[in-house]
Amino acid sequence: MGKVLGLVKLCSLMLAPALVLAQDVSFDDIQPILQARCVMCHAGDAAPLGLRLTSLDELLKGSSIRQVVVSGDPANSELIRRLKGQSQPRMPMTGPPFLSDAEITLVEDWIAGGLQAGSRPADATARPAPLLRPSEGQPVTYEHVAPIFASRCVKCHSAYGLMGSAPEGLLLNSYAAILDRHERVRVVPGASGASELVRRIRGQSQPQMPYDGPPFLSDEEVQLIVDWIDQGARDDTGQPAPSPVGSRVRLQGVLGEGWTLDSLQLVVGPGTRIDKSPGVGDVVEVRGRWGQDGRVLVDRIRRR
Ligand code: HEC
Ligand code: HEC
Repeated sequence: MGKVLGLVKLCSLMLAPALVLAQDVSFDDIQPILQARCVMCHAGDAAPLGLRLTSLDELLKGSSIRQVVVSGDPANSELIRRLKGQSQPRMPMTGPPFLSDAEITLVEDWIAGGLQAGSRPADATARPAPLLRPSEGQPVTYEHVAPIFASRCVKCHSAYGLMGSAPEGLLLNSYAAILDRHERVRVVPGASGASELVRRIRGQSQPQMPYDGPPFLSDEEVQLIVDWIDQGARDDTGQPAPSPVGSRVRLQGVLGEGWTLDSLQLVVGPGTRIDKSPGVGDVVEVRGRWGQDGRVLVDRIRRR
């Protein structure tokens, strides 16, 4: 690059990113965005609509139904339409937050400028990040489990998911949503056995999640989520979530001796409604509240 051109590029960079000339944007600028926000879902055999965003070659191949970028024509590129929410569901599906205006402009400029390849080989493949684990002696936090929810659950459990609105109203795209107590709790911090979310990923409760499995979660992934919950369902900063005493729960499982659900202790009293005479070994649905003493106070138990 000539001295003058270099200076122009430097000046425009210092003024504002939007002033970078479209033809200066290359895949080098786009790849980190895809890596951070898209590859967790758009990779491998399970890539949605067959669209892999793991390399320039794969991106240019497009999805099983179309090319997602039209060189020189961002407005007619499905990729841009998805980033702006002109086609639904909006991408990335983990949003909000979606991409910033500056990031979307960068992608538009890249398409307008003719899809410049940049410095990396077009088949250089980004890999989805490996399972994140806490370092020795440290607790599991939301940071470690969020990528599992993002890559395996959010495509349905988001406001505009593959099945329309989120199944059972359950959003799994943020910490606050996962711990929401409004209707009932699906995660009971400190008690994985009382957490319907864990029952679903283990298949103790049917249908097993993810609903589009197999593949279901690996044993390692399930264990990481179990540890996260048993260690208090900590947020990104390591702060444990409060115990949801009094919140509603709805659980499925197998009834054991002495009013247990698998190994979870149930409190069945005179106020409990018992339907279809459930017996030991039956699959039952339990509705109740999370009690002070770490037991489920049952309002209703029903054979399934
Ligand atoms: C949480 C998983 C997830 C993430 C993260 C994600 N996507 Fe998607 N993406 C999907 C799913 C699921 C679909 C299929 C939706 C449908 O049926 O229209 C999809 C569809 C698309 C399509 C439409 C393809 C076509 O032919 O219609 C494009 C383009 C796309 N995604 C781009 C992106 C980009 C770019 C990012 C990152 C900024 C991203 N996605 C992040 C799950 C995700
Ligand atoms: C392909 C869509 C899809 C995917 C992916 C998916 N789910 Fe679901 N989920 C559903 C549907 C549909 C239901 C309602 C099923 C029923 O009970 O009839 C559901 C129900 C649930 C429930 C029960 C909610 C309640 O209130 O009892 C939980 C918990 C759950 N999913 C967790 C997850 C988790 C965790 C993942 C990822 C590991 C996941 N789901 C992935 C579609 C999906």
